[in-house]
Order: sequence, then C-alpha cells, then structure tokens
Amino acid sequence: MSKHRIAIPETGEDFLCDEHQSVLEGMVRLGRRGIPAGCRGGGCGICKIEVVDGNYKPEVMSRQHVTEDDQHHGRVLACRIRPQGDLVVRVIGKMNKAWTLPKR
Ligand code: FES
Repeated sequence: MSKHRIAIPETGEDFLCDEHQSVLEGMVRLGRRGIPAGCRGGGCGICKIEVVDGNYKPEVMSRQHVTEDDQHHGRVLACRIRPQGDLVVRVIGKMNKAWTLPKR
C-alpha cells in the first residue's frame, strides 16, 4: 500500500496518509488537540481544506459545503478525498481553529 506525505505549510507539520484512507483520517492520527469529530461522511463540512498541490481522488461531497467552484479550486472535504500522491494543503474550514492551538 502506498503512503503519501501530506504537508500543512502553515503549521510546518506533515503526516503520512495511506492512499486508501481519507486525508481526515491521517490528520486525526496526528493527535492534534481540538480536531472536531465531524460526520466523516461528507455531510457536515467541518473538515474543509484547500489542496494547494498534488493529486487526490474525490468522493461525493455535499454541494451545501463544496460548490462546483470550490471543487474546481481544490477546496474539498478532507474526509472525502484520498491522496494519490504527496499533497500540500491548507486548513480552511471550522477545523482551522484546531490548527492554531498550541501543539500538545
Ligand atoms: S467530517 Fe463532516 S464533512 Fe468531513
């Protein structure tokens, strides 16, 4: 199974994510304090990120949270994408607060 590196330049962090796992699952494994437990199914919109670089496989996402324009610009739900290579992402949704808290 291939693992890909997901980098978050804003916090200088990165983590490995299996290509069969969602990016959110990889983020949760980082053990960050304050990562909200969302639906993990593409419905609540809490895990919105922007993929700045890299390829991923998207699954169905609620248009309420991700418009076609969002998706076109790489703004997607972390729980609904699987990395196909190394990714560079920005946390832009409600999860953003978790990433600005001091590290444990
Ligand atoms: S956790 Fe609910 S949309 Fe991703």
